[in-house]
Order: sequence, then C-alpha cells, then structure tokens
Amino acid sequence: MSVDRNIIEIKNASYVYRGNSEDRQDVLALDDVSLSVRQGEFLAVLGRNGSGKSTLAKLMNALILPASGTVVVNGIDTSNEEMLWEIRSSTGMVFQNPDNQIVGTVVEEDVAFGPENLGVPPKEIRARVDEALEMIGMSEFKKHAPHQLSGGQKQRVAIAGILAMRPKCIVLDEATAMLDPVGRKEVMRILRRLNSEDGITIVHITHHMDEAGMADRVLVIDEGKCVMLGTPGKVFSDVERIKSLGLDVPQVTELMYELNKSGFGFPTDVLTVDEAVKRLKAYLGGE
Ligand SMILES: Nc1ncnc2c1ncn2[C@@H]1O[C@H](COP(=O)(O)OP(=O)(O)OP(=O)(O)O)[C@@H](O)[C@H]1O
Ligand SMILES: [Mg+2]
Repeated sequence: MSVDRNIIEIKNASYVYRGNSEDRQDVLALDDVSLSVRQGEFLAVLGRNGSGKSTLAKLMNALILPASGTVVVNGIDTSNEEMLWEIRSSTGMVFQNPDNQIVGTVVEEDVAFGPENLGVPPKEIRARVDEALEMIGMSEFKKHAPHQLSGGQKQRVAIAGILAMRPKCIVLDEATAMLDPVGRKEVMRILRRLNSEDGITIVHITHHMDEAGMADRVLVIDEGKCVMLGTPGKVFSDVERIKSLGLDVPQVTELMYELNKSGFGFPTDVLTVDEAVKRLKAYLGGE
C-alpha cells in the first residue's frame, strides 16, 4: 500500500478538559502529542484507562480541536470550520457501542445516512450503499432491521455507513470491546481487508493485544503522551515496559518471555501461535 504521505498529521497537540467548578479541576488529557498516521497503514492504539486514547481519536475527526498545536487531516487543518464535512467524510469514526450508532430503521437506510448528509445525489447514494454493504459482506441484510443483528453485524453496518462516504481513513474507538469473540473476528477480518485491498487507513484503539499484533504499527499512550511507537514485534518485545504501562503483551509473546526468564534464548518479537510453533520446533529440532 502507498505510504508516501500522511493522512493525519498531529503536531504538538494538547487538549484540556476544563473543570467548571472548584471540585472539577482541569484535566490535561493530551500533552504535546505529535504523530503522523501514514496513508494506507493499520495503526493500533493502546493505553490504560484514562490515558487519552478517545481524546486523540476525537482530534482526528475534528470532534474536538486542540488547545494548542495543530491537527491536519487529509491536508486540511481541523480548525478550518468550513471544511468540517470534508474532514468528517475523509476520516470516519466507529465507537464502542453498536446500538448508539444506529440511525435508520432498515440497514440500507442506516448506511445511506452519511452520504445523504453530504448531499450526494440519490442515484449515487444507491450505488454507494450497495457497494458499502458488499464490502462488509452484508448485502443480503440490506432490508433487515438493524436492531435484529448481532453486535458484530451492527458494527459492520456502522463501518458500511462510513464506507458510503468514501473515506480515506477509519478511526475505531474500542469498536470491538463490546463484541463476543465471533463478532470481534468478523470485524477484524473486514478491517484487515479494507486496509490491504482498498488501501483504507485504519486507526484502531483496542484493549485486545492480539488485535494490536495484527497492525503495521502500535502506538502506546500514557498520561496523555505518546510513549511507544513501532512495529508490534518491536513494541511488544519490551515486555517489562509494556507491563509498567498497565498493558499486557500477546499470550505467545508472554510465553517466550517467561521461557527466556528460565534461561532460554527465544526471540521476543513472536506475536502469533503459528510463529511460536515454528520457533519452538526449530529449537527442538536443532537440539
Ligand atoms: N468530558 C470530560 N470531562 C472531563 N474530563 C474528561 C472528559 N473526558 C475525558 N476526560 C479525562 O481525560 C483523560 C483522558 O480521557 P480519555 O477518555 O481520552 O481516555 P481513554 O484512554 O479513552 O480512556 P478509556 O480507556 O477509559 O476509554 C482522563 O483523565 C479522563 O478522565
Ligand atoms: Mg476511551
């Protein structure tokens, strides 16, 4: 995928939630954050509760503006109010609770909502809705009522609603957190396909380390600061640092780490069971 430019460019951004009384003090939620999200990449964002992940996501969609510093999305400064729809259609957001994102009584109506608001002509909307439902594998559900769908299907419909706006980037704020393992898998499969086949940039905030392991890069934020950024193999191999930030590493990485503590010398950038099996076999075979 093309990675020759940045779809989101955050420079020295800070954000403060203002307290309105003596017992509610100001909270510095983001503290001098700089981050470039490359066009076409899959970026996972990790951080303990209250570290600033959702605040960062909201900056990427002009839902909030930085108190200082700049955020540029698809070449447009998010402080440019006249370009708000442009920004929101180039970077769509999916949130945690699928039920809060349903706006239509029928799936196809729900998906049409975004392009309708953009003023897309009806004929074109029809084509976009069909295309978006096809992309998430839910064409046969277009006449269904959204509330009858599973959590994973509802999140896929939410993603289709964004796809119908032809975005360059999708930002997901713990969109898999309320899903069962099957729903989570469905959504991850769709995200990976949209990323690899359609070149859509994905920013995926998650508490699931296995999902982060699938990303091109992992960003860790803590107390409003970007504290780690790199490939999953690199970030997760620093097991002690990850743990000190209140996070876990994928289970197989943990296994390698524990084996190494007992004197083995396995590589620490192992992220999947398949890789772990390969390394263990090689080790045993080499004995
Ligand atoms: N509307 C608000 N008013 C005041 N403080 C807020 C508000 N929203 C968030 N905060 C505070 O800002 C900090 C960052 O919050 P944010 O929601 O960005 O964190 P998060 O990493 O998304 O957390 P979580 O894992 O719980 O979703 C936290 O200290 C939080 O309490
Ligand atoms: Mg959050």
